[in-house]
Amino acid sequence: MGLREKLEELRQQGIQEINKTEDLNKVNDIRVKMLGKKGPLTAVLRGMKDLSKEERPKVGKFANEIRDELTKAIEDKKAELTAARLNEKLAEETIDVTLPGKPTVQGQPHVIQQIIDQLVDLFVGMGYEVAVGDEVEQEEYNFERLNLPKDHPARDMQDTFYVTPSVLMRTQTSPMQARMMEKHDFSKGPLKMISPGKVYRRDTDDATHSHQFHQVEGLVLGEHITMADLKGTLEVVAKTLFGDQLEVRLRPSYFPFTEPSVEADITCFSCLGKGCAICKHTGWLEVLGAGMVHPNVLKMSGVDPDVYGGFAFGLGPDRFAMIKYGVEDIRDFYQNDVRFLNQFNQKG
Ligand code: DAH
Repeated sequence: MGLREKLEELRQQGIQEINKTEDLNKVNDIRVKMLGKKGPLTAVLRGMKDLSKEERPKVGKFANEIRDELTKAIEDKKAELTAARLNEKLAEETIDVTLPGKPTVQGQPHVIQQIIDQLVDLFVGMGYEVAVGDEVEQEEYNFERLNLPKDHPARDMQDTFYVTPSVLMRTQTSPMQARMMEKHDFSKGPLKMISPGKVYRRDTDDATHSHQFHQVEGLVLGEHITMADLKGTLEVVAKTLFGDQLEVRLRPSYFPFTEPSVEADITCFSCLGKGCAICKHTGWLEVLGAGMVHPNVLKMSGVDPDVYGGFAFGLGPDRFAMIKYGVEDIRDFYQNDVRFLNQFNQKG
């Protein structure tokens, strides 16, 4: 076979192979195989030295044409396959804008925050102001100003996280009483405030104790404020949170910053007073501490106890939530398990 025929054969072979392939990687292999240094075209060209002088330029020209033709065929194939691959990808990734969207998961206030929000709404509606204090508090406000001097035994019940010898993580929201009354101008009317927030105690965590929990403090000071006002206020709170059929009962108790002091119970929401496991068969659930503000507390914050007086209370939203929803372990509130928390989804 002459060189011309060989070249013609290579051309046909090459074109055929290129046309056949559907794989972009293989196109490159074909290029190396056909046109590379070790390829048949190079071999044919090497054989040209044996040709006659007249033949050599003609065959050389022909060989160059074939190389150009194959190179172009390879480039065209590459472009064709690249475009096909792109089209395939585009088709795969087509977005159907008419499909319904995936619902986004929206957060919601934590169940304890829900209780606090309800209380804040209620009290703001009754003309109270909301005073949010600091979680780090001075010992003086947390204890002394609330009639709990350094050696007072009631301090023991609130074993405390101290930051420095005179600064601590507040053990109660009651210090806001002192902070608010010392700056209140009674010529402008009575002081009515609530203070919701986190408090800390060096408790060992168990089903009913957490080293960090919440309180809502309440304080009303003015002229002629009586214990009947306290009871009426607590009744409104109980009915708003737990239902109209519930009653409030006050029991004598002791807090250093109130005199007299009471513990407030509400009718057990579960048995409505008949007695059940939840209320330990008493028919009542203890929900908060309260009392008439002690004259010492008033005096220490510059309020004249002969003219002004009133009531204070402190309630625990954690306990409220446990009672309201039958949650048996306070730690459930703090473990951020969405399966637990979603049960209190207000949006349903
Ligand atoms: N601070 C009290 C506690 O942590 C709760 C309390 C009781 C607050 C009686 C008051 C009150 O304002 O009058 O146990």
